[in-house]
Amino acid sequence: MRKILITGGAGFIGSHVVRLFVNKYPDYHIFNLDKLTYAGNLFNLKDIEHKPNYHFIKADIVDGELMQQLFETHKFDSVIHLAAESHVDRSISNPMEFVMTNIIGTVNLLNAARHHWQQDYKGKLFYHVSTDEVYGSLGDTGLFTETTAYDPHSPYSASKASSDHLVRSYHDTFGLPVIISNCSNNYGPNQFPEKLIPLFINNIRHNKPLPVYGKGENVRDWLYVVDHAQAIDVIFHEGKIRETYNIGGHNEWKNIDLIKVICKVMDEKLGRPQGKSEQLITFVKDRAGHDLRYAIDSGKLQRELGWIPSLQFEQGIRLTVDWYLQNQTWLDEVTSGNYLKYYEEQYDKR
Ligand code: NAD
Ligand code: TYD
Repeated sequence: MRKILITGGAGFIGSHVVRLFVNKYPDYHIFNLDKLTYAGNLFNLKDIEHKPNYHFIKADIVDGELMQQLFETHKFDSVIHLAAESHVDRSISNPMEFVMTNIIGTVNLLNAARHHWQQDYKGKLFYHVSTDEVYGSLGDTGLFTETTAYDPHSPYSASKASSDHLVRSYHDTFGLPVIISNCSNNYGPNQFPEKLIPLFINNIRHNKPLPVYGKGENVRDWLYVVDHAQAIDVIFHEGKIRETYNIGGHNEWKNIDLIKVICKVMDEKLGRPQGKSEQLITFVKDRAGHDLRYAIDSGKLQRELGWIPSLQFEQGIRLTVDWYLQNQTWLDEVTSGNYLKYYEEQYDKR
């Protein structure tokens, strides 16, 4: 019987990974460890929280002693590590939070895994979930491959790059079985409305300005979050130790073009005249150190493990807009902080 520690499982991507594993593998015990920062929300997992193979642990990965104790108590045999501070703009205003969680937190988990597994690494795996932002910025052409040199520009991407290096070093120095994947921008249900797509959906809903950084010419490669969770499942089960896998959507969009699609779909769904939401577009001061273009070559993952994205963007963006419109209470709760009360009611009294 496997005992898998998934960190950051109450966040956007983590909640989709936890749901997939809990439902698909009833014989696995899934331990979701999350600090429940502003970005972590147990509402995201309401549909599976009653399942017997799901367990929640509220904890901060920066607490190294606690990580050791939890490994001792629960005897995890693998880790899927997603917990992180994840928003570039926040990393510009508060880099230290990113250093603490993304670097120190990762080392704490590596230390706990090493300490508890070193007698026998067989059947153990430390799977680190990372981002394509570690590779820096592309010009108009080219794609990131697994061998692209690291060149991070924001405190967020620098902290993730640092954690990637530490993960590989624990394999090379101590023999810890590790795998890393680096994924492009995700979109879909449950993303905190500070990231581009849910922020703009939420603002259109409230007729608020849509703040486009610079001229809106930056390019991102968008992947539907459930496809990322499925890639993680495949890599976790079939990936090779010490390998890196790039995950991407083959789906590049200039920000301004993507924003116009969101406006169009929102007008349609809200029954507003076409062109109404576009009037909310407001060009604002560019983000400092704003990477021009990210684009992923996920050919290795396709060739070696047979993974390809299942959804076309046109489908994915409609599903996403539908989800946010059908879950407006979720948007209201996460933006007002009400879900913290939910946590207190559900868990503090237990
Ligand atoms: P998120 O911000 O939505 O969720 C992060 C989760 O981690 C939250 O539940 C939060 O409470 C938890 N957390 C934060 N600090 C913690 C700590 N100190 N201890 C325990 N838990 C803590 O992030 P996300 O977008 O779901 O990203 C998840 C992972 O995937 C991150 O490692 C990120 O770097 C990576 N990633 C994200 C994207 C993307 O587009 N969002 C793309 C590629 C890779
Ligand atoms: P974001 O969702 O923050 O992801 P990342 O910076 O990790 O790629 O931003 C996606 C793109 O959208 C990025 O080029 C920055 C831009 N952006 C805006 O133009 N306005 C905004 O309000 C936000 C949050 C992002």
